[in-house]
Formats: sequence, structure tokens, C-alpha cells
Amino acid sequence: MKAIVIEAPGAEDVLRIGEVPPPELGASELLIRVRTTALNRADLLQRQGLYPPPPGASPLLGLECAGEVIAVGSDVAAWSAGDRVMALLAGGAYAEQVVVHHGSAMRMPESLSWEEAGALPEVFLTAYLNLFELGAVPDGGSVLIHGGGSGVGTAAIQLCKEAGIRCIVTAGSEAKLARCRELGASAAIDYNAGDFAPKVIEATGKRGVDVVLDCVGGRYLAQNIDCLALDGKLVVIGLIGGAKAEINLAKLLMRRLQVIGSTLRTRSVEQKQALVTSFVARFGDAIAAGRIKPIIEKVFPLAEAPAAHRLMQSSAHFGKIVLRVS
Ligand SMILES: NC(=O)c1ccc[n+]([C@@H]2O[C@H](COP(=O)([O-])OP(=O)(O)OC[C@H]3O[C@@H](n4cnc5c(N)ncnc54)[C@H](OP(=O)(O)O)[C@@H]3O)[C@@H](O)[C@H]2O)c1
Repeated sequence: MKAIVIEAPGAEDVLRIGEVPPPELGASELLIRVRTTALNRADLLQRQGLYPPPPGASPLLGLECAGEVIAVGSDVAAWSAGDRVMALLAGGAYAEQVVVHHGSAMRMPESLSWEEAGALPEVFLTAYLNLFELGAVPDGGSVLIHGGGSGVGTAAIQLCKEAGIRCIVTAGSEAKLARCRELGASAAIDYNAGDFAPKVIEATGKRGVDVVLDCVGGRYLAQNIDCLALDGKLVVIGLIGGAKAEINLAKLLMRRLQVIGSTLRTRSVEQKQALVTSFVARFGDAIAAGRIKPIIEKVFPLAEAPAAHRLMQSSAHFGKIVLRVS
């Protein structure tokens, strides 16, 4: 089958179309004909050799896809050949076929195009896991989301709007801030215009937010802690701004705060199955009704993966960048 192969880690042009053997179907898995996949920030790191796939995962890039089931493993009862599917993957979607544990697969609703469905699993499950499960944002609560215009950010804003959670975002341009507000953010802060923490405190009437969803890391740690309400949680999902910083434990202790580190990709198949089930139970109807859908910046053919990676690296995009595979 055709796939994007990487002969040696490096810049965008190492992404080339090549021939690889198709994946082997396991007893608990679905074999999927991939129609679309989408980029995630982790793909840029993996391409450069900085983020190796977890043990047992495909060495190919691609953390999500939409497509049709071609075959089902002997232990799988709920799926059949021909079903339309969206899947969360530990890798392998930059290819014509991929296998996935049945617990990481979701029915593709009529409300979504192939491009939208292939861009949904990774960012929506990341936002859901970290805001609603690990972050346990209370009903009527509030959150701060960094990277409001990112794939994860645009998913998180929509989930919050649907759930009645007040959502404040940061982003790096007026255009992105405006689009975040249109999508449902109640406040949007330009991180280039001074410290964000005093603005979050002011926007919440001095209370602070219940959860901070943070992809920046070290550079934002002190301000993130200052933004949290009593019993608040900082969930760190990325380190765009560095891995190290000093922490004032007195603030954690006095305000009963928690700092949580989180990765989705390395979770067990059982954990992913529980996550997918819980996400679909809570937000499946809103997706099927068309109230929630991935925001697509641009669709590239698979062979143009280098240009797609360059666009993500530039951070000029809003939402998701999609690859059309077949
Ligand atoms: N832990 C997990 O399980 C998990 C899963 C998925 C994603 N993630 C992480 O979540 C983040 C978003 O992923 P994504 O795929 O949605 O990425 P994305 O669409 O590429 O968005 C990343 C955004 O971060 C902002 N950014 C870039 N450099 C920055 C900097 N130095 N300081 C502040 N903001 C910066 C940019 O927006 P501006 O133009 O506003 O700067 C950019 O659009 C990434 O850090 C990714 O690694 C983690």
C-alpha cells in the first residue's frame, strides 16, 4: 500500500510517498481503508525523530483517521465491513490502510464530511479527557485554554460551549482571537499584549478558573497557577514553551491546587475504550446534530504532506489541517 515514509528524520521534505506492506489485522481490531487523516503537532516532532511512537504502535505518522471498515478481527462483533468509522490511533494514518483496536473506533455520523471526521478523534478526545475527565470541570464552571486557535483549542471551545462551561482563551493574533470568540469563547486574550493572568483574574471577577488546559508548559507555569480558583487544576498537555520552571508550592498548598501531566497516545487500549465510550455518551448527539464539528483550515492530498507540515509549523492555521488519502 501507499504511505508517507520517512527514510531519515528531518525537515518537511523527508515526507515522501512510498510502498509499505499493509498492516496485519489482530483479533480485536478493525482494518480501515483510510479516506482522510489530519495533522497533529506531535507529527512535526515525530518527523524530526523527537517523539518516537510508543512500543507496538505503527512507525508511520498519523494519530487519527476516517474511512471504511474493510475487515474485522475474529473477536469483534459490533462492526462489519463497509461501516463508516472515525478512529483514534497511536500512529499509522498517513497510509491507505490502518488497523485499530475496536474500542478506539467511533461510528461516523452523517453530519460530518470525510475531511471533518478524519480531523475529529485526536483533538476532541484530548480536549474531553483533559477538561472533563482529568480536569473535572464542574457544571457552570470556567476554564482557560491556551492555543485557542489550535486543533485542540478549537475542539475545546466547542465542547465548553455545548456543556455550558465559560471558556477564556489565549492566542497570538487578532484574527485568531476573533474566530475563537465566534466559535464560543467568552473572552480571548492576546498573549503578545502583556501578561495574561491579570486579564483572566479580571474576566472571572477575581475568582479565577477551575481548569487551565495548557500546551505551553514552563514559560506559563507561574501565570497559570495565578489564574486558578480554589481547588483548581492545571492540566499540562504540551511543552511548546519549555519543560522547566520554578513552582511556588505555597500557592498550591494554600489554594488546594493540582498540577496534572497528561498524554493520550500512551494510554492503554482499555483506557482509550473507556474514554471513547464516555465522550460519545456525552457529546455524540451534539456531533450528530451538527452543533459540534472540527474546524478545517485546509485539505491537502497525501502527497503534499510536506506543505501541510510547513503550514502547521508556521502556526498560521486556525483549527485542523487535513490530508486526503483516498
Ligand atoms: N498530551 C496530549 O495527549 C496531547 C494531545 C494532542 C495535542 N497535544 C498538544 O496540544 C497542543 C496543540 O496541538 P495541536 O495539534 O492542536 O496544535 P496546532 O493546531 O499546531 O496549534 C498549536 C498552536 O500553538 C500556538 N503556539 C505555537 N507556538 C507557540 C508559543 N511559542 N507560545 C504560545 N503558543 C504557541 C500557535 O497558535 P498562536 O498563533 O495563537 O500562537 C499554534 O497554532 C500541542 O502542544 C500538542 O503537542 C497534547
